[in-house]
Amino acid sequence: MSKTTTKQESYLAQEIGTIRGARAAPAYLSAAECPIEAMTEEHFNQRQLCADMEILAATRQPRPELARRILANLCRDLPAHFEDEEQGLFPRLRARARPEDELEKTLIRLAREHEVAAAEFAALVPALVCMADGSLPASEDRHALDHLAASNRRHLIVENAILLPLARLRLTDQDKATLMVEIFARRQQPPKVSTACTRALARINSLQLGAS
Ligand SMILES: [Fe+2]
Ligand SMILES: [Fe+2]
Repeated sequence: MSKTTTKQESYLAQEIGTIRGARAAPAYLSAAECPIEAMTEEHFNQRQLCADMEILAATRQPRPELARRILANLCRDLPAHFEDEEQGLFPRLRARARPEDELEKTLIRLAREHEVAAAEFAALVPALVCMADGSLPASEDRHALDHLAASNRRHLIVENAILLPLARLRLTDQDKATLMVEIFARRQQPPKVSTACTRALARINSLQLGAS
């Protein structure tokens, strides 16, 4: 760790058990793997994203590389994951769930959380672009990062505890195979994201992600 690491940053790094600002690489998907395992891996990466956001919220020194990694996740990885769930997993689970699973309320809640999170992430993109260029987060940005990390962690808990175990139980082999083909195909296309995100991705690509 650098000599300028604050006590709070050190504490956070210890708490999450990672090197400060470290993030697992995005999942590399193949069309042949199990989609539920692929989603479990995505959720692991999102937990890393939450940790990154908390570190950026607490930083007292510019963290451009960390801001770029967060931007890449918010503008590229997360929208694709939301689509995987909303267009692929949720409808298949709806079709296969049994009444005793009482799943409908959970699916409605998760889809609503995606909507809210997407709007909150979009609002944060301009500030993250500034941080990727070396600015410190303003106090409202720190609050937004902490808030987003906390709400995304709650979302992941519900998905890992309810959604994925039920998917393992209810989806047929054919469901899983088709879902994985869709997930894989989605990764071969340019992300369907806002203009601000497209610009941010172009910017971080031009700065060579992870180079600084
Ligand atoms: Fe998810
Ligand atoms: Fe989700």
